[in-house]
Amino acid sequence: MLAIGSDHVAFDFKEEIKKYLDEKNIEYKDFGCYSKERTDYPIYGEAVAKAVASGECEKGLLFCGTGVGISLAANKVNGIRAVVCSDCYSAKLSRQHNDTNILALGSRVVGIELAKMIIDVWLTTEFEGGRHLNRIKMISDIEKRNRK
Ligand code: RB5
Repeated sequence: MLAIGSDHVAFDFKEEIKKYLDEKNIEYKDFGCYSKERTDYPIYGEAVAKAVASGECEKGLLFCGTGVGISLAANKVNGIRAVVCSDCYSAKLSRQHNDTNILALGSRVVGIELAKMIIDVWLTTEFEGGRHLNRIKMISDIEKRNRK
């Protein structure tokens, strides 16, 4: 199960991606927003991040104008490794090397067809483990050291 979310800027974009996920029989839970009414991206970044960090959802997709704000918010939740991508290479490597668990896209940055391609690559690429495992542990150690 995927967790998905967006702010108002990327609402239509999220609706298009939902149609695409439906076509591919990929299950998702939509954490909002649910209309184009002005709202704030941290709300949805946190909601999706919590769903992923708790194990309720396996991975997450987040959308805002640039993908930046919503990924920054998601990355504040322990255990989240959210990446903003506008190319397939970074999406693939972010899975292979960084074991990213949330993909953020900017609806004002990438066209919808490129977005679908990036999502496909990201969803189907596995983490390589090996030498990358310790680096992931080093990232979670930073979280532990800086917890208040
Ligand atoms: C909203 O105006 C905009 O700031 C938001 O969609 C996003 O681009 C933030 O990073």
